[in-house]
Amino acid sequence: MTPTADAGAAPPPMRLLVLGASLRAGSLNTRLATLVTRLIEEAGAVVDRARLKDFPMPVYDGDDEDTGGIPEGALALRDRLQACDAFVIASPEYNASLPGGLKNAIDWVSRIRPQPFKDKQALLVSASPSMVGGNRGLWSLRIPLEHLGTRLYPDMFSLAAAHQAFTDDGDLTNTSLHQRLTETVADFLHLVEADTRYVCLRRRWYEFLGDHTDAQVTQRAED
Ligand code: FNR
Repeated sequence: MTPTADAGAAPPPMRLLVLGASLRAGSLNTRLATLVTRLIEEAGAVVDRARLKDFPMPVYDGDDEDTGGIPEGALALRDRLQACDAFVIASPEYNASLPGGLKNAIDWVSRIRPQPFKDKQALLVSASPSMVGGNRGLWSLRIPLEHLGTRLYPDMFSLAAAHQAFTDDGDLTNTSLHQRLTETVADFLHLVEADTRYVCLRRRWYEFLGDHTDAQVTQRAED
């Protein structure tokens, strides 16, 4: 199979945005994002680390958008999304759903054209002190992202009892869980590589999933 880049030249390393969606300093999701970052880098890709706190923005208000346009924080997040081949979100679960601040950021960014979430590959992970590991929050997070046309990786990773789950070196104390996360990240990177480097596969993959690749149908995510 021929990569889309120059036949002889190796393509540049894949670039992934890893976004920690908790605002607090001692965040367990930030720790999980740090581990995912290391696993991605060990696989040879480049990581752009971000925290939701890097992108301050008010609560979405259509009147503010009409008068002031898109806030700087949302534009900055758009820039970081545009610059990556794929992204990872490490998100807490609040009340069995996604955190309001993350939904607000998605809402603002979704107002930008071209719509930045469309057609990006993404992996979702979560950490929580509870036994569900924040998994219900990730299912909620899938809804707006799927709606916006993000290509969400089917497997997710939710770390239960996360306050006790890390070694001092940032690995997971449970070695089989650590192995599963490593494999999930590696498998996700293979898909990102296929999607971004072997464009002929992209169309087939979307159509295999039941999507239509003509602009008229996929346009829903832009409306
Ligand atoms: C929580 N937490 C929580 N945890 C969980 O597993 N299921 C839940 O529904 C909720 N709900 C919830 C609501 C609110 C408002 C807060 C502040 C917290 C606990 C949460 O998982 C815990 O505080 C994590 O440590 C938050 O993630 P970070 O900040 O450590 O990344």
